[in-house]
Amino acid sequence: MESLIQRIKALQESSEALEPSEEQRNNYTSQLSTFANRFINGLSINPAYTSAKETKGALAISSTPRSFESLLALYEQEVASKGINAASGGHLGYIPGGGIFTAALADYMADVTNEYSGMYYASPGAVSIENELIDWMKVVFGFPKEAVGNLTSGGSIANLIALTAARDHHGVRFDRIPTSVIYVSEQVHHCIQKALRIIGLEAVIIRYVPLNEQHRMEAEALSKMIAEDLENDLHPFLIIASAGTTDTGAIDPLRAIGCIAQEHDLWYHVDGAYGGFFILTESKKDMLKGIEMADSLVIDPHKSLFLPYGLGAVLVKNKDAVFYSHHYTANYMQDAIQEHNPINPADVSPELTKHFRGLRLWLPLQLHGITPFISCLEEKLLLTRYFREQLVNRGFAVGPEPDLSVSYFWFPKETAQEDRFNQALLKELHANGQVFLSSTRIGGKFVIRMALLSFRTKLATIDTALEMIDSAIKKVSLSY
Ligand SMILES: Cc1ncc(COP(=O)(O)O)c(C=O)c1O
Repeated sequence: MESLIQRIKALQESSEALEPSEEQRNNYTSQLSTFANRFINGLSINPAYTSAKETKGALAISSTPRSFESLLALYEQEVASKGINAASGGHLGYIPGGGIFTAALADYMADVTNEYSGMYYASPGAVSIENELIDWMKVVFGFPKEAVGNLTSGGSIANLIALTAARDHHGVRFDRIPTSVIYVSEQVHHCIQKALRIIGLEAVIIRYVPLNEQHRMEAEALSKMIAEDLENDLHPFLIIASAGTTDTGAIDPLRAIGCIAQEHDLWYHVDGAYGGFFILTESKKDMLKGIEMADSLVIDPHKSLFLPYGLGAVLVKNKDAVFYSHHYTANYMQDAIQEHNPINPADVSPELTKHFRGLRLWLPLQLHGITPFISCLEEKLLLTRYFREQLVNRGFAVGPEPDLSVSYFWFPKETAQEDRFNQALLKELHANGQVFLSSTRIGGKFVIRMALLSFRTKLATIDTALEMIDSAIKKVSLSY
């Protein structure tokens, strides 16, 4: 007995390192705070992109303890200073957001108290916060009170939940799969195809609806395709529209598509991961009308509400469709299942135990109010206009006027040289790195994308981008 207690005490002593003293905690947080200030203060002068990638084993797990100071220094050098600086306002590639500081504080709070936010029974407060956010989003997007929702890790998982609900509602299983039809835009985000494969719908028929000159889905073409498929005894069941495509920022004609979905009793899904929250702006709220007709909707606060990566959201009108795949019980859960409990996040998601990610949106919304978020979105729309005008003045060709804040441009050259010239231009821009732009292909043509969404992207950022582009054009022109 004695030896058992001695062994327990010895282990207790050695594991005490996992509970730092108050003095140590203060020491850590003060070092972290110094680092965070240095990092944030440096954002306006440091590059948005650094091509160096090699870490030379510096990040390997060491079996002996290291000091927090040395690990912070390592993080700064090997993680925070390499690749795309996603916190920088100069990040104009892919879909940036920035990552507001007060969301980081919320993550710290959530991690310190380690709320179990999968079930109401375990943390009624955390689940209530997440449900309040879902309710707020229902109001913003005109969804009914009875709709359900979930805060996901991002847009891909949110889309997966919505598509699973569509599949289950329409009973698309077994031999029904090869004759079932889904309609998407050619510009749909690739996480949709990925989700379809994951949920066993790889063999469904996917129809790519043609787009008009603004890269928006042609509602009439969609209508015709559905009519033809019905004539051929196929089973159309799902239409997926985008409220802000990734490549071109286009908003599909949401209301017209919604009417077509209603006419044929099809599930209507809208992927608003990038653009959905522009509904909060005066200038774009009308363009997003029709979004309320969706059966399911994805929106990503880690994009258009500027949160650090790790928060998407899905709303679904039909609770039963979502519960079919996600609501489970088990003996060991019996205490947690009580009558009149609100919906648990675990009932509407593949996750059970999960990060209390709702706090990273709730805290900033409560602290700042909604106005600065809306101003930031409106600002991005105007900056997009300014950037495009300045590019045109410099002889660039630009894509059609974007519905939101993503657009593209290229420097016109003789056809044979055009792609190579613009590729060389992007390479030069990446070598500079002060501002980061990514590229894509539109109709086969290589174009440079501009995605203005980070809350830190300001007028000065665009002026820096233009200076960088001027000097890159000069350099690249020497070789062409
Ligand atoms: C329109 C759209 N849908 C879905 C996604 C996927 O979201 P996530 O990267 O958060 O998984 C993206 C990502 O950029 C997107 O732009």
